[in-house]
Amino acid sequence: MQTVVSGIRPTGKLHLGNYFGAVKNFLMMQENYNSYFFIADIHSLTTHPTPEDLHGSVRQVLAEYLAMGLDPEKCALFIQSDVPEITELYTYMNMNAYLGELERSASFKDKIRTQKNNVNAGLLTYPVLMAVDILIHKADFVPVGKDQEQHLEMTRQFGNRFNRMYDVEFFPEPQAFSFTGELVKVPGLTGQGKMSKSGGAGDAVFFDEDDDVTRKKIMRAKTDAGPQEPNSPHSEEIANLFDLMRLVCEESVVQQYVDAYADCSIRYGDMKKQLAEDMLTLIAPIRERIREVKADDAYLAKAAKIGAEKARESASRTMREVREIIGFKKFY
Ligand code: TYM
Repeated sequence: MQTVVSGIRPTGKLHLGNYFGAVKNFLMMQENYNSYFFIADIHSLTTHPTPEDLHGSVRQVLAEYLAMGLDPEKCALFIQSDVPEITELYTYMNMNAYLGELERSASFKDKIRTQKNNVNAGLLTYPVLMAVDILIHKADFVPVGKDQEQHLEMTRQFGNRFNRMYDVEFFPEPQAFSFTGELVKVPGLTGQGKMSKSGGAGDAVFFDEDDDVTRKKIMRAKTDAGPQEPNSPHSEEIANLFDLMRLVCEESVVQQYVDAYADCSIRYGDMKKQLAEDMLTLIAPIRERIREVKADDAYLAKAAKIGAEKARESASRTMREVREIIGFKKFY
């Protein structure tokens, strides 16, 4: 059976971008693949969360994953810091990752800009840790959104370099994966690129927020002055709204608004109301379930424990071989 690995940084709550970019694929993958899905709490340390925030976010995401349908019996759903083999391999792989290539990573350049006062070494070697997450389970596929493509390219580079350096065929080359064939980019509501938790207030629609909060965000989403003449092209803001509609609305409903735009009869208020209600149809039942799971300490504990055991079993198998390959051989 082929193996998949994917993770998420716990920095708050899951939003629609996470769901359509990654989690929806996880739900399908756990049925047919040897699946490892984890909460990347070590990655989160690059932003210096307080212990309370870190633990709270991990708990939130764990509950959200379970509420969305990840089944601890079908996949390995685990917390990264429960698997010390990951930090061990990270140490070794850092020796073969070069400053120049790490500095060129788009996410590092972005972080230099956005967290000027905290440009730590963990940010620089973030792609190495991410590669280790994937390589330690010898993944064939990584279900991710489009934003992670470059990190995946670096993963292949680090894995191949290890193979060449030790003249082994040890790490397979993991490929990005999406069931639709194309990697997804879910736009945000503020009209600036992908939906993200750091995209500012109102950019992301979260699963665990009240209906009225979601409705308000959608109603405030950026639009333009409206089509000036029949069949005019969509501005970026409107194209984003249509992209969001395609994720949650029936095709015929989307078409109705596309046609209304084309003949200039569209009313953005109606379009947004439709979008909000169709989003809530998806979100509301999941949100109720999140709230139940979040209050169920015993279930969270059981899920995390099963996941840690499965992940450690796979990771320690890889590490026994890695140590041998590198030349750490036991004298006793
Ligand atoms: P993170 O936490 O930013 O996002 C988690 C997952 O959600 C996807 N995603 C999106 N997809 C489409 N449109 C969006 N607007 C959008 N926003 C987020 C991301 O592509 C990702 O799949 N570095 C990773 C976490 C990570 C990881 C890994 C992922 C650590 N180790 C190993 C895969 C394999 C990150 O920061 O994702």
